[in-house]
Amino acid sequence: MKSRLILSALVLFGFAFAAHAELHKIELTIEEVDLEVAPGLTAKVWAFNGQVPGPLIHVREGDEIEAVVHNNTTLSHTVHWHGVYQTNSWRSDGVPDVTQKAIEPGESYTYRFVADKPGSLWYHCHVNVAEHVALRGMWGPLVVDPRNPTPLEKKVTKEAILMFSGWNSEVAREYGKGGQPGEVLNYFSINGKSFPLNQPLRVKKGDVLRLRLYAPTVPVAFHAHGHDALVTHKDGLPLDKPLPVDVLAMQPGERYDVIIHMNNPGIWVTHDHIEHHTTNNGKDHGGSMLVIEYEGIETDDWYMWKNVKYDPDFYMSESMRKPHGLHNIEAFKGFDPGAPRNSGAPRATGHH
Ligand code: CU
Ligand code: CU
Ligand code: CU
Repeated sequence: MKSRLILSALVLFGFAFAAHAELHKIELTIEEVDLEVAPGLTAKVWAFNGQVPGPLIHVREGDEIEAVVHNNTTLSHTVHWHGVYQTNSWRSDGVPDVTQKAIEPGESYTYRFVADKPGSLWYHCHVNVAEHVALRGMWGPLVVDPRNPTPLEKKVTKEAILMFSGWNSEVAREYGKGGQPGEVLNYFSINGKSFPLNQPLRVKKGDVLRLRLYAPTVPVAFHAHGHDALVTHKDGLPLDKPLPVDVLAMQPGERYDVIIHMNNPGIWVTHDHIEHHTTNNGKDHGGSMLVIEYEGIETDDWYMWKNVKYDPDFYMSESMRKPHGLHNIEAFKGFDPGAPRNSGAPRATGHH
C-alpha cells in the first residue's frame, strides 16, 4: 500500500514535471533589409524577422521548440542552434548538405528540437558563414533558463544581453561580397549599433546585473570600468567557482555570463580593449563602447547623453522579463531599402 502511494506520487510528480515543459511554435523569416550600424555606415543584411540581432528566443530547459523558417531573400540559408545538443534531432542542426538541404529563396524549413542545454546559447545561419554570419547579421540570442539555477543567478535583479560584431564598409552595400581571408573590419558594434548609436544601460545601486556577453563574429576583450565582473557561466554552463575579472577575452562564438554587483554609483564605460574596436572607421569614441548610468547621478550639460531618448529594451532587459517565447525588438529593426527613408516614427539615435 505504502509503496503504491509512493509510486503514484512519483507518477504525479512526473506528470507535473512534463506538464511544465512547453512547446514553443515560433516563426522566423529572413529578410533583406538595410541596417543603420554607425554614423556613415548602413549595411545590407539578411535579418531574422527583419532585425539584427535576430529576435530573442527565451525558453526553459526541457521546452520544445518548433521553428518554421521562411527564406524571403535571394540566396539560400539555414539556421544552426549553437550549443543545443540536438539529442535525437540531428536533422534540426542546420548544416547545409550534411543535415538538410539549404533553404532556397521562397522556401521554408521546420526545425524541431528540445532545449536540452541551458544557458546563453545562440542561433545563426550555417551557409557561407564568413559572409552571412560575419558581415550580414545572421545571428540572435537563444536563452534557455536552467531547471536548477545557481544560488548566485537567483539573486540577479537585471539582465542585459550584449552581442559584439564587426563590419566591413567596403562590402557592406553589396550582397555576395566579403568574408575573404585578411578582410579588414572597420566598424564594430554591440547589438548591431556602434557607439553612439547604441544606448546607455541604466542600473540602480544594489542591482545584481547579469551581462550575457556574446562574441558572435569578432574577438573581444571586454573591460568594465569601476567594477569587477564575476564570470559565472561559460557557453551556457555554470563554472564551479566564479572568477572575478576586469578584462575578459572572448573568441568568436564564445559566450560568457558575468555578474556585476552595482555598488559604485557613477557614470561608467565598458569597452572592448582591442583598441581599434572602439573606433568608427578609425575615429575614436565609437564601436563597441557602452555607458552604464546609475540612477540618480547628476550629469553635466556637456555629458553626451544628457537628453538621450532612452530605450530600456536595447539590451533586451525588458524582453527578458516577459513570458517565455519569441520576442521581436523594435530597436533592432532594419528598414526596407525600397521604402522612403524618413517615413514613420523617428528612430532613437541617442545622440543630441
Ligand atoms: Cu545565410
Ligand atoms: Cu555556431
Ligand atoms: Cu578604459
